[in-house]
Amino acid sequence: MTFPSDFVWGAACASFQLEGGGEADGKGRSVWDMFSEWPGKVLNGDTGAVSTDHYNRYREDVALMGEIELQAYRFSISWPRVLPDGVGAVNQAGLDFYDRLVDELLENGVQPWVTLFHWDFPYSLFLRGGWLNRASSDWFAEYTATVVDRLSDRVHHWMPINEPQVFLGLGHSTGDHAPGLRLDTRESLLATHNVLLAHGKSVQAIRAGAKTPPVIGNVQVGVAFMPASDDPADVEAARTATMSATGDHYWTNTWFSDPMVLGHYPEDGIEALGKSMFDIPNGDMETIRQPLDFYGTNIYRGDTVQDKDGQPVPVKRVEGYPVTRMDWPVEPEALYWGPRFLFERYGLPIVITENGMASSDWVHLDGKVHDPQRIDFLNRYLLAFERAIKDGIEAAGYFQWSFIDNFEWVFGYQDRFGITFVDYETKERTLKDSAYWYRDVIKSNGQTLHG
Ligand code: GCO
Repeated sequence: MTFPSDFVWGAACASFQLEGGGEADGKGRSVWDMFSEWPGKVLNGDTGAVSTDHYNRYREDVALMGEIELQAYRFSISWPRVLPDGVGAVNQAGLDFYDRLVDELLENGVQPWVTLFHWDFPYSLFLRGGWLNRASSDWFAEYTATVVDRLSDRVHHWMPINEPQVFLGLGHSTGDHAPGLRLDTRESLLATHNVLLAHGKSVQAIRAGAKTPPVIGNVQVGVAFMPASDDPADVEAARTATMSATGDHYWTNTWFSDPMVLGHYPEDGIEALGKSMFDIPNGDMETIRQPLDFYGTNIYRGDTVQDKDGQPVPVKRVEGYPVTRMDWPVEPEALYWGPRFLFERYGLPIVITENGMASSDWVHLDGKVHDPQRIDFLNRYLLAFERAIKDGIEAAGYFQWSFIDNFEWVFGYQDRFGITFVDYETKERTLKDSAYWYRDVIKSNGQTLHG
């Protein structure tokens, strides 16, 4: 038995991606409601207004989670559903939805793991400067306290912010995601700093207000580099590349995780940014660095490097390498090396908060959804993660992305990540073959990965 006896086997999703209920029961608008209505921003003009209609069908979805004996469900809460203006008046009907969802999960033996922010930022606060406003960290702390007060008697696992790299990199720098801003480096660094402050104040609010002992972790994009060989020089090159902040500071582990866990920005990143770097107000780094109980990382892929004169250089993949429907390379070893390097640096138990693949699924003539690629993908990645555990990392859990087909941001509904298929016309759900395969993995605590 390699996976710890208390290892948590889960699946994940996020409010804007599956809920629908876009204007239901007093919910406020988010920047993704705004952005997905902009012409040409989302494939096929898809929006999150209805999505899988989870807002009305959550009992059916939770029953399916129970059927595959899912141990935990990582979901996010829609900030503007709870606080329509982002701060101030609470929309009780919005909180009531999450209250019911938590109770339904617990009744089906599924532990709720709550992400407080998964990109659906309140539109009202966007109009007040959004993450560029230094008050954003206080707004987020107020929202955190509201949710914790209502749910923390039953919810014990909390993740303040999902993947700051993406909503800042794509939403505030390239403009490809909501809210579609194209800030220059200095301003995007200031927005990033406010997000890190929000993380710290959220952890403080959880620990101050939780009615049961909280278990708190971050959720980062997992940047993972793999060595071309077991030669120590190549391994060091992969470690260096995985922990570097000298490139685009967004697509790094360290620009975000070093402040959260170590209490300072990475020196190589500060040096590389030069005059774009801002003066850090006194006390900010102490606020950002709050004790965490696990390190959450979303790892889907990795790149290979080799050592050349003490520096990592990219290694070209062999033509025809396997890719998912989104052309993401299939690189199972990323779930060995990423967790290994991250555990070495931060010393926190690793939770894979997302891992999975998009494939072009449909209901076959036999009424089932056969997805052998996803089964093989997940099996290979989990075997790599198991090896990392054997080699000494502490691992606390794994959340497959995603429990259900959902709105894949600017790709709309075309890319299906779920182990549950959704017919978007009828909203009918069908557990895919991978869901039944995952049930066996869960029940055996990973033993069935070995065939
Ligand atoms: C992310 C987000 C998810 C995505 C998933 C597939 O990691 O980008 O957390 O919302 O849908 O990763 O791209």
